[in-house]
Amino acid sequence: MAGIFEVDEAKCVKCGACVRDCAFRALKMEDGAPRMAFPDRCMKCQHCLAVCPTGAVTFDGMRPEDSASVEGLPLPSLESVENWLRTRRSMRQFAAADVDRATLSRILLALGNAPTGCNARSLTFTCFPTRESMDAFRRDFISAIERHRDGTKLLPRWLAVPAIKLRKGEEDMFFRGASGMLIVSSDETAPGVATPREDVTIACAQFEMLANAACIATCWCGFLKMVQQEIPELLEQTIGLRRTSPFYAMLFGYPAVRYARGVQRDSYARIDFRG
Ligand SMILES: Cc1cc2nc3c(=O)[nH]c(=O)nc-3n(C[C@H](O)[C@H](O)[C@H](O)COP(=O)(O)O)c2cc1C
Repeated sequence: MAGIFEVDEAKCVKCGACVRDCAFRALKMEDGAPRMAFPDRCMKCQHCLAVCPTGAVTFDGMRPEDSASVEGLPLPSLESVENWLRTRRSMRQFAAADVDRATLSRILLALGNAPTGCNARSLTFTCFPTRESMDAFRRDFISAIERHRDGTKLLPRWLAVPAIKLRKGEEDMFFRGASGMLIVSSDETAPGVATPREDVTIACAQFEMLANAACIATCWCGFLKMVQQEIPELLEQTIGLRRTSPFYAMLFGYPAVRYARGVQRDSYARIDFRG
């Protein structure tokens, strides 16, 4: 990892901000200047690059001038995030049109910034961006269910009935007629991966926020998770995902219904201040 942490001596004011902010103490002040002392401890979080007040740190080839400046950057206010939380809805009626590809690409790029435990960054975003690709997945999904049924003849009713309806084109309980779907998965075997399930869930939650901000509606697809638990080979056969890999899916598309008001759930969770 030599050279991963480069300091522009002309710009460094030797304030030690990078050293103090280094989570695992990989950096050290040596002869009054910051140095990468313990490269094995570095989790590549880039805090040193982000915190340096003078832009003296280049990390892993990433130069400070290529980072977004926080000065004047519009950020969501507390009020706007509160409003979003009270009015965001799980969409179960989607428009026919595909989501704009450029917007989707932009969202998935930004989603790469979602935090992961120990900065492991082992996520894969498998995206079915169009109705055509989504319908192809629906067909593969039904075929995998039918292969499983033909092998064991043991399908629970909650799965068998919606599967028949989807096959007949009567109703899509699993995917709610969405034009697109994102499957977030984690390679739990990759080095340094500490929290694969949490990483997946956080990325899904942040996808929902980004998508909604772009007027794209979403719905958590717990049904896919339930089917995978029943048919462990399902995602291996459809998208090549290892059976043990944590994943979650988000349905998305333009909304076909508009909610006129928010819901009233502020008091749902028990708030337990201990001081
Ligand atoms: C983890 C999770 C899984 C979910 N799975 C499904 C699902 O498979 N199908 C569905 O229609 N809604 C699903 N939902 C949506 C919930 O039913 C919904 O969030 C809840 O009823 C509250 O409604 P709201 O999201 O519109 O506020 C899921 C939500 C979560 C958080």
